[in-house]
Amino acid sequence: MAAMSHQIDQVLIPRRRIARRVRHLAAQITLDHQQSGAEITLVPILTGAMIFCADLMRRLSMRLKMGLLTVSSYPGSSVRSQGPALLAQQLGELTGRHVLIVDDILDSGGTLGLVQGLVAELKPASLRTCVLLRKQRALQRTVKADYVGFDIPDVFVAGYGLDYDNYYRNLPDIVTLRPMMAREAQQP
Ligand code: XMP
Repeated sequence: MAAMSHQIDQVLIPRRRIARRVRHLAAQITLDHQQSGAEITLVPILTGAMIFCADLMRRLSMRLKMGLLTVSSYPGSSVRSQGPALLAQQLGELTGRHVLIVDDILDSGGTLGLVQGLVAELKPASLRTCVLLRKQRALQRTVKADYVGFDIPDVFVAGYGLDYDNYYRNLPDIVTLRPMMAREAQQP
């Protein structure tokens, strides 16, 4: 862990704040879906949403199933999106079901736009989206999330499932990285 921590710049969202917000999101989701009276299918977008979804789903009291999608936008050590690529899917039957897509972060909206379109084609009874983080970027406005944990500035973040070069996912807090690692993101 020492080798990893020296590259962290600062803690942006500490674990306790995350836990509190996840509880509130889960309460809201439970309430909204109680009204529709049916069970749901959760679709976390892997790999980044893995930890968020694991915490969130343990706070949801309704019956639910899981569908999985793996999408990659930041191959290797890139901190600039290369555009979303669908790597794998294991969605199960979504037709006529209430679907909740779960993602770690809404940035340009490319990933959620792709996934929302893909799921919508399967004719779910309803389709909602929950993201833990939403970056303040103009382009994202075209893609909407029904539930948002935190609005954050346009900085590259890692931890709590989010990665840099597939590292840092196991950090319990959401952090920013040292400028040395994020230098690619600072270029115009
Ligand atoms: P888009 O631009 O498609 O981005 O909305 C969403 C996906 O890109 C990844 N992403 C990040 N991953 N730190 C990360 O570790 C970030 O700051 C970041 N911004 C975007 C993430 O996988 C997300 O699902």
